[in-house]
Order: sequence, then structure tokens, then C-alpha cells
Amino acid sequence: MRRPFIAGNWKMTQDRRSAVALAEGVSRQAAGLSGVDVAVCPPSCYLDAVATVLANGPVGLGAQNMYHEPNGAFTGELSAAMLLDLGCRYVILGHSERRHILGETDADVNKKVLAALAAGLTPIVCLGETLPEREAGKTLDVIRTQFSGSLAGLGAAEFQKIVIAYEPVWAIGTGKTATPEQAEEVHADLRRIMAECYTAPVAESVRIQYGGSVKPDNAADLLSQPNIDGALVGGASLKVDAFMGIVVHAVG
Ligand code: PGA
Repeated sequence: MRRPFIAGNWKMTQDRRSAVALAEGVSRQAAGLSGVDVAVCPPSCYLDAVATVLANGPVGLGAQNMYHEPNGAFTGELSAAMLLDLGCRYVILGHSERRHILGETDADVNKKVLAALAAGLTPIVCLGETLPEREAGKTLDVIRTQFSGSLAGLGAAEFQKIVIAYEPVWAIGTGKTATPEQAEEVHADLRRIMAECYTAPVAESVRIQYGGSVKPDNAADLLSQPNIDGALVGGASLKVDAFMGIVVHAVG
């Protein structure tokens, strides 16, 4: 049985005061909920402040990116160990904004995934096709290529520690959500790819979040799909009530 997992990706938003307030609201409302994992991923400069708010509470902390090297002359970068030191349990890797705006490749994502796992962080690895790719009927090819490139070299035990987020690029921040059927189709394909690369029990154990304009009013239908195990939420994670309005639909 896969435990649902809802994570908020705050992207490059907030200031110190609003980040703390948002974390306080989420932490307060998540107290007492069971049967669901909840995490927030603030900008790296506010990880420390948010970690203080979340300490000993039910909400996990995640970063939005990291660098694969353990330390050294890499100006502006943060290592997995630094994120752990700040209290992170999760790190989002390969988000489409990093792939498409900042030029991250599957090979870059793969190095980060391996480094995150080696350090003891749980990577949330994002995959997803663009609109032209979907319209050209290439969705499954793109997903397969990103899957094998971003997750190369992982043994079954390591693979079972990751979370995958299927985020169709055309649905991110656009208000256009994939229909539950469109999302479920790709999630089921991903489950099949996982079973081919590992085993059916391994494939059954790994959580696949959906991301792309998830909101309180579409979350129930998405989360009720058999292969959708949670959500990676951008815009709607920036308001406590909207985010928690999604989380409640994941509670078993
Ligand atoms: P959105 O973002 O919910 O604003 O579409 C999702 C994401 O980028 O993870």
C-alpha cells in the first residue's frame, strides 16, 4: 500500500515573513492528519527559518534543487549534506523549469539523484512531456527516455527510496490540468516501465505524484486514480487553505 504524499513547491516566491507564516499554517493544519505524508519545499534561503517552524511537527522539509558534488569550488551551489544539515528530508530534482529554463539534462539529474540518495535524502524526480511532444504522440517515448536517463544506475533498493513526479509541462502553472484519465494513463505506463526495469513488487512500492495545476477542486478526481499516489503542487501550495484543501483529499 503506497502512502499518499503531497508536497508543495514554493518555487522562487515568498519572503522570510510569509515563508514562516505559510509553514506555520500548514504545520498547524496538518497536525492530527494521518495516513498522508506532507512536505513543503521553500526557496533555499528560507529552508533554515522554515525548518525551525516545522521542527518536531508532521510536515517534512524539502529543497527545490541541489548540486551533485559533496563540497568544493562550486560557487552558488548547495550539496546534499548541506540540505540534510538544514533539516531537509526531500529534494525536488529535474523539475521542468530546471530542465527547460536552466538547461538541466537527464545526465545532470541522474548525478544529483545518485548524490541525494547516497547522502540519505529522498529525491522527488520530475518527468514530463511538453505540449508539442504530446501532440506528436511522443509522450511515452519522452517519459521512457527521461526515466532511463535520470534514474540510470539505481539498484532496486535505491530505486525504492525515490518518489517520481509526473508533471506534464503544458499543465504546470497554466491552469490546464491533465484530466484524471490522461494522468492515470501516464502513471500506469510509468508503473509498467518500473516493473520492466525492476520487478512488479518494486514497481508497486514506489510513489508517483502528479503535478500540474493541482487545486482543491480537481485533487479528489486525480488522487482517486489507482496509480496517482499524491501531488506536487506549485501555485496552490502558496495559500494554506488551498494546499490543505488538496491534502485532505489524500487522507485515506
Ligand atoms: P503548478 O506547479 O501546481 O503551479 O502547476 C506544479 C509544479 O511545478 O510542481
